[in-house]
Amino acid sequence: MQGVNEIRETFLSFFEKNGHTRRPSAPLVPQNDPTLLFVNAGMVPFKNIFTGAETPFAPRATTSQKCVRAGGKHNDLDNVGYTARHHTFFEMLGNFSFGDYFKDDAIRLAWELITKDYGLDPKRLLVTVYAEDEEAAKIWKKVAGFDDSKIIRIATSDNFWSMGDTGPCGPCSEIFFDHGDKVAGGPPGSADQDGDRFIEVWNLVFMQFEQHEGGKRTSLPKPSIDTGMGLERIAAVLQGQHNNYDIDLFRTLINAEEAVYGQEAAGDKAASFRVIADHLRTSAFLVADGVLPSNEGRGYVLRRIMRRAMRHGHMLGAREPVMHKLVPALVSEMGKAYPELGRAQVAIEAAIEQEEARFQRTLGNGLSLLDKALAELTPGAALPGDVAFKLSDTYGFPLDLTQDILRGRGLEVDVAGFDAALDVQRDASRAAGFSSGDRATEEIWFEARAKTGATKFAGYGATSGDGRLAAIAAGGSLAQELVPGEAELVFDTTPFYAESGGQAGDHGEIIFDGGARFIVRDVQKRAGDVHVHIGELVSGSVRLAAKGQMKVDDVRRKQVMANHSATHLMHAALRMVLGAHVTQKGSLVEADRFRFDFSHGAPMTPAEIEAVEDEVNAQIRANIETGIKVTSPEKAIEAGALALFGEKYGDEVRVLSMGEPGDGGRSYSVELCGGTHVTRTGDIAVFAILSEGGVAAGVRRIEAATGAEALSYLKGRAQIAADVAKSLKVPLKDLPRRVAVLTEERRTLERELNDAKRKLALGGGGGASGPEVINGVNLIARVADGVGSKDLRPLVEEARAGIGSGIVVFVGIEGGKAGIAVGVTKDLTAMHSAVDLVKAAAAAMGGSGGGGRPDMAQAGGSDVSKADEALEAIRAVLRG
Ligand code: ALA
Repeated sequence: MQGVNEIRETFLSFFEKNGHTRRPSAPLVPQNDPTLLFVNAGMVPFKNIFTGAETPFAPRATTSQKCVRAGGKHNDLDNVGYTARHHTFFEMLGNFSFGDYFKDDAIRLAWELITKDYGLDPKRLLVTVYAEDEEAAKIWKKVAGFDDSKIIRIATSDNFWSMGDTGPCGPCSEIFFDHGDKVAGGPPGSADQDGDRFIEVWNLVFMQFEQHEGGKRTSLPKPSIDTGMGLERIAAVLQGQHNNYDIDLFRTLINAEEAVYGQEAAGDKAASFRVIADHLRTSAFLVADGVLPSNEGRGYVLRRIMRRAMRHGHMLGAREPVMHKLVPALVSEMGKAYPELGRAQVAIEAAIEQEEARFQRTLGNGLSLLDKALAELTPGAALPGDVAFKLSDTYGFPLDLTQDILRGRGLEVDVAGFDAALDVQRDASRAAGFSSGDRATEEIWFEARAKTGATKFAGYGATSGDGRLAAIAAGGSLAQELVPGEAELVFDTTPFYAESGGQAGDHGEIIFDGGARFIVRDVQKRAGDVHVHIGELVSGSVRLAAKGQMKVDDVRRKQVMANHSATHLMHAALRMVLGAHVTQKGSLVEADRFRFDFSHGAPMTPAEIEAVEDEVNAQIRANIETGIKVTSPEKAIEAGALALFGEKYGDEVRVLSMGEPGDGGRSYSVELCGGTHVTRTGDIAVFAILSEGGVAAGVRRIEAATGAEALSYLKGRAQIAADVAKSLKVPLKDLPRRVAVLTEERRTLERELNDAKRKLALGGGGGASGPEVINGVNLIARVADGVGSKDLRPLVEEARAGIGSGIVVFVGIEGGKAGIAVGVTKDLTAMHSAVDLVKAAAAAMGGSGGGGRPDMAQAGGSDVSKADEALEAIRAVLRG
């Protein structure tokens, strides 16, 4: 049997043999298309090559591309688990011709691979072509010897493939495998085509057009080829299976699930096993590409997918996080073809475990709420939208999760009702937030790039140099002439670093021949590798091709470099101190400070923060020369360099080695990085962490500084201590002891003061005489200054205990507020209730209310100047 890994390799090496360049899969988060949520087909990373905006790296290519179809035009989420061939994550094998070969060779190569290398019986194969594409039909006749019965003409969009609402598109021809008449289902185009007999395995797209917004369609510069073969589908056919989930890869994952959930994947449980297997792959690959579960955009799609799997895990009895235990099986199955999985394994496990723990806190309660709502439902009615909304809002059940649960019971959600509830609450936060404006400007730069090519960056070793003006953009379009005002400029070569890898773009100025002066305020990369200098022409004017002297602000660049190098050392130190699950989630390196986000489940303790600071400063003091090597990403990663998740690296990468050599001679930090860095770690001078806090679930953020900024931060703190020492009149070194002594003294004084107040109150001041007697009742009635209402009751209790039989009243006054407490000994409560007495006293002080029991009651009084009147009111009651 050919395993999935062999089938993938057979495909890629076949096309490699036929002149195609093998490329690794691009990350799932599209690098070139802000309109797309996830890469959902093999051609997506090459979209700009097809449209002519980007120069092809080779005339032919082949890939096995990671794809996610959940959200957007191609969305298969709802079907997963219930059908034989739907996945949210799958691998698409593809061969691509960028204006090189066209239909003829595409069909010939496909036929050769599928019938020879894969060895499928030609008699079991048939094809579809677009109804108007007579040329494709003719080629099939010639290459495969098919007659018209085996070439089915389809007039619908089924045979016209497009990437999305816009983008490259064209007629296509699909290859089908016939499982034979023992299986139900009709040929493509027939009424029962959805049966399992005829299975589409390969789609050959003859890319000829580009679809634009508003319905316009133009021809591509050159006809091209894009093909897509779902690896899971072809594996099922080659392994004699109907269900994709029965191929070796999924069997391994499902076996691992059986062990983890302690159940067999049979009967009505089988669907849950399939859902978990599929969603595990999607979750793991998305985390490896830098996506974490959250409440918006891509992170929200990931959260929905994870929670759907976790709900199925709950059905299988999981009451503690267990899904992460499946990750090792996935990594051993797919880690060789996708090394990023292994690199991110710890982070994937942590992300899945945290999400499951989080969801399990509300899952049980949410399910009870749902059960209750369902029990009250009129049979057959839809679940009210507000219940679904509450489940989503309070219990973290995404709508599609609720729908998935109801589907098992043949019920639906009132989606309109849900939307209405959502509308009431929604602000824009959940929108993925892509504006088409971003795209318009992006397109200019692709257009510019076609003329100028990539910008040559000459700024690793130098901060000044000459460049020739290659493109000018002002007011959103390209121009020939640069006049004073805001503009964006491109040069053939530049020493200006463009923001990337978290490092901010350079600032500086450009003086053109003739004297015109352009101030550079930022530099950004557009169209992949064009450095766009953003700023203002303050004097003169220039035309395209003018020569400029480009000068980067040196001082600022040095600070940025020190900060960037410090992020590398800190990244390594965090992994050392907190563990290997720490991975970089983002960074922003500016001149004065830097920010670094990383995955970690808990706030750092002061000791951990100090340990990281100490580690980094020790590496700085070691003053080791930075090692820079240019190599291929594969080699670098093999040698243990840290690569960032989801980052797309070019054919060549810079490997930065920093700090002291450790085990096996490997430097303290080894990372792939295109940024600019210090020559020796000592150039960083000093490092200080300014703050540490949380930014999202499982993600922490550190702000830190180096050099003069760090020093001034540390000096500022020292100054505060010095000022305090001065005002306490002790040497700085004695400050902690002095503060401890003062604190202790304060505590003692407070205790003494309270004691004195108590004594004063109880004794009535100046050793006053005992109780007064009114109508034969003993009464102690006093105003206690400085006693707050919470301290009144113990005072009253103490005095009452000493009186034998009688009544005690205290009015306590503190901070402009008055409190009254009245205590009555048990023998008198029948005659005088404390509650009545306190009410009378409160009324005299302009208050109302008061409450308690007959032997002890309390009230507040608003007018503190009337304390004596309150006592007098009580005497009046006793006088009768
Ligand atoms: N891009 C084509 C597809 O996704 C091959 O089917």
